[in-house]
Amino acid sequence: MSNVAVIGSQWGDEGKGKIVDWLSNRADVVVRFQGGHNAGHTLVIDGVEYKLHLLPSGIVRKAKVSIIGNGVVIDPWALSKEIETIRKQGVEVNPQKLMIAENAPLILPVHSALDEAMEKARGNNPIGTTKRGIGPAYEDKIARRALRVCDLEYPEVMKRKLDRMMLHHNALLKGLGCDEISPDDILEQLLEIRDEILQYKAVTWLVLDKFRQEGKKILFEGAQGMMLDVDHGTYPYVTSSNMASAQAATGSGMSPDSIGYVLGITKAYTTRVGEGPFPTEQDNEIGHFLGEKGHEFGTTTGRKRRCGWFDAALVRQTIKVGGIHGIALTKLDVLDGLDEIKICVGYELNGSRIDYIPASSVEQAALKPVYETIEGWKDSTRGARSWGDIPAQAVKYVRMIEGLVEAPVTLLSTSPERDDTILMHDPFTVKG
Ligand code: GDP
Ligand code: IMO
Ligand code: MG
Repeated sequence: MSNVAVIGSQWGDEGKGKIVDWLSNRADVVVRFQGGHNAGHTLVIDGVEYKLHLLPSGIVRKAKVSIIGNGVVIDPWALSKEIETIRKQGVEVNPQKLMIAENAPLILPVHSALDEAMEKARGNNPIGTTKRGIGPAYEDKIARRALRVCDLEYPEVMKRKLDRMMLHHNALLKGLGCDEISPDDILEQLLEIRDEILQYKAVTWLVLDKFRQEGKKILFEGAQGMMLDVDHGTYPYVTSSNMASAQAATGSGMSPDSIGYVLGITKAYTTRVGEGPFPTEQDNEIGHFLGEKGHEFGTTTGRKRRCGWFDAALVRQTIKVGGIHGIALTKLDVLDGLDEIKICVGYELNGSRIDYIPASSVEQAALKPVYETIEGWKDSTRGARSWGDIPAQAVKYVRMIEGLVEAPVTLLSTSPERDDTILMHDPFTVKG
């Protein structure tokens, strides 16, 4: 039995929430290890939709433990609101079920203000962030300025850190023509919310180590996707954390060898929210078809997602740099009914053929996709629960993807509903 890490293999929104929810039935504990409430993970269970941002997707199951690891940046107010919303949907949240790493950094109101101000300052060249303060909060973590969950116990520490932090940020806010923010105002807000957050504070690396020794199964839930990884993505049009599977260890306080199988969640076509290069983007009828049929609107910001053909060269690359062993292919049903389907197998760059995405943003913007075209299928795959129900031409598409990305399809998802999922190999038992 091995533990499983789930990571996105494209630009996010691949269906990680659905797959983590489905897999969490086989796990004892679900851990988020990076990102923050920029994530939006949707689960659909018996027709009821749950939208999660910071809470691990295991939270909807009664007997599972959910952990927010140290690699996550936590906005206490967003977390409080999310807990309130999910409770209204009948989901129980208590300190036995939810634990938050004492060493996780906090997102404060100044971080969202800075996120907004920096986007504005980028003028015609924004990143298209979610404006949740993710980037500025990670900057403070690396700059050793951050307040962390454990600091909520000590008002005098919060005061000292906030005074120092705001000395830095107010200079920037002033320079950007924005109102300054008083450290005492932030302290006051923190003092109001701290008890609510502190009840979930735990030494999560110890809790996880104990689970591991007891042979419990751990499921690591990634947010975003490998092309948004700050090292390996389409920099600077990325988020401010790492999604590669090694981050599951760093962001939860476990050893890399505690992760047995890395499952890359992969959409049967491609989407992206925000700015940045997207070689297979279809800003045309096809893109419109995919967007409408796939309901491609952001879970977090409601923004329309950009849509395009499946990019096998991109996924092959993210499989290699992300350490992915197999993929869960989602939203195959969205392609039902198309006459023909294109798959990008490489690119042309300034007249030469390449089969990877280079690091330079100039070169990324100049990539011209090289496609292979296959005939589509007319029968429906929606809601299929066995491999035998998948039309032959759709099987051909899946097999073609496996060959091109050089990894097996471990799971196949055919609708948003939890149980419309086909298991080919159990990631908890197959060897990665
Ligand atoms: P995440 O961020 O990776 O968890 O993905 P999101 O939840 O942001 O976006 C994926 C969307 O696709 C959600 O609305 C899911 O309910 C939906 N979804 C997941 N799997 C499937 C599938 O196989 N078919 C269809 N049609 N929708 C799916
Ligand atoms: P899930 O977990 C898709 C994108 C933003 C923007 C860039 C930087 O639902 O897959 P940030 O606010 O993180 O500084 O924004 O990253 N982005 C996502 N896109 N899915 C996500 O999460 C995303 N989280 C951030 O749109 O382009
Ligand atoms: Mg999402």
